[in-house]
Amino acid sequence: PVEPFTLVVFGGTGDLSRRKILPALFHRDAAGQLPVEARIIGVSRRVLDREAFRGFAREALTDHVAAAHLDMSLLEKFLERIDYIAADATEDEGWSRLGTLLEQRDDIKVFYLATTPELFAPISKRLGSQGLVGRNTRIVLEKPIGKNFQSALAVNSEIGKVFPEDSIYRIDHYLGKETVQNLMALRFANALFEPLWTAARIDHVQISVAEELGVEGRAGYYDTAGAMRDMVQNHILQLLCLVAMEPPTSIAADSVRDEKLKVLKALKPINTSNASVLTVRGQYRAGASAGGAVAGYLDELGHPSTTETFVAIKAEIGNWRWNGVPFYLRTGKRLPSRVSEIMVQFRAVPHSVFDSPPEPNRLVIRLQPDEGVKLWLMIKDPGPGGMRLQHVPLDMSFAQAFSVRNPDAYERLILDVVRGNQTLFMRRDEVEAAWTWIDPIIEAWQSSNEAPKPYVAGTWGPSAAVALTERDGRSWYEGA
Ligand code: BG6
Repeated sequence: PVEPFTLVVFGGTGDLSRRKILPALFHRDAAGQLPVEARIIGVSRRVLDREAFRGFAREALTDHVAAAHLDMSLLEKFLERIDYIAADATEDEGWSRLGTLLEQRDDIKVFYLATTPELFAPISKRLGSQGLVGRNTRIVLEKPIGKNFQSALAVNSEIGKVFPEDSIYRIDHYLGKETVQNLMALRFANALFEPLWTAARIDHVQISVAEELGVEGRAGYYDTAGAMRDMVQNHILQLLCLVAMEPPTSIAADSVRDEKLKVLKALKPINTSNASVLTVRGQYRAGASAGGAVAGYLDELGHPSTTETFVAIKAEIGNWRWNGVPFYLRTGKRLPSRVSEIMVQFRAVPHSVFDSPPEPNRLVIRLQPDEGVKLWLMIKDPGPGGMRLQHVPLDMSFAQAFSVRNPDAYERLILDVVRGNQTLFMRRDEVEAAWTWIDPIIEAWQSSNEAPKPYVAGTWGPSAAVALTERDGRSWYEGA
């Protein structure tokens, strides 16, 4: 078990708490990682008593923990850890009771801000003025941190007045995904890949995060963000950093984060001079998904909007290792399926001794679904029919290789906060550097006055996204 802690979840009755935080804590409890003293305190404006909040938690777990893992006696024991306080960041009510609860124990205090970002600064100010911040306190922030560089700077500065950087945990839940961590193991625990990991050997890299779902009742938030702020600024750039960074000297937080920061700073600028060539924005229209006909984004929203639900970008990293290697990035809602993967395509052999030229090797790291790693190799087609070549994968499916349940990203991340391990969290300068690269792209889109290109729900985005790779004689990886 980790050390005794009290986790205070602001936004305790919200969606994230229900879908992710409470189930994650339950799973870790079931695995024996929560000490008997661990407590969870939900905080929100809603006037509820402890029993009512426990009822909320019970329902959250029944809905979001698979039946096979939902042991009822464990569930009841877990609920006993839970308390609730109604409090509002802007009013005194409730805060002294929270203080009293926290004072009862000399344990680690984690303040998890699962609220709208507008509340980050007011809540942290309150925590400071109520005297709740001390040696053993940590704060967890959910994305988005700002909507551009300036607003991120403002949020970070406000939080920084109350909490030192080494107790601030900015969550990017992609970093908690098993296969994402595996990317570091793959690169730095194997001697095989590192000598090949350069522009001399790699032709290009693709990072795709495709979602089948639409905006699912979050249109209000989503319309202010769009795919660029919602996915690219954080998840996709973090994946890009892990693929492209130099080997850190250790797995220690700042060692890894220093290397990621260098990648972000080396991204070649995209702005009004080149955005129309290097980026594609799209917005879904009515179409179909696996479940049947689905509405278009504007119908769901109920008013006109130029917010993008799809982005494709040809990015480049200007440093010795990567110069000239395109990183094609792509993400969108209402695409044909939910697939997140990183594909590294190696250069072709310099000279083919066979009748037909061999296909280039590809290393595919699949984050979801069916996590695994595939290395596409050329082999001889079996049989006496002569030297015919075939492209086949050396395939490691995690589900087949390991029989354990694949833990949700939040399970790992929440316990890392308690352990005081910041390796999988974004440092202030990383967030700000990411915005520094993103802002001019969004500004270029705004100044062009061009609406996002329409695509039919259930397709792979606008045709311009296909052209982005085909123009370079390449194509998006589609599983082969
Ligand atoms: C969130 C975005 O950060 O990530 C959502 O706000 C998106 O729009 C989600 O759906 C995707 O996460 P996952 O873990 O389901 O790939």
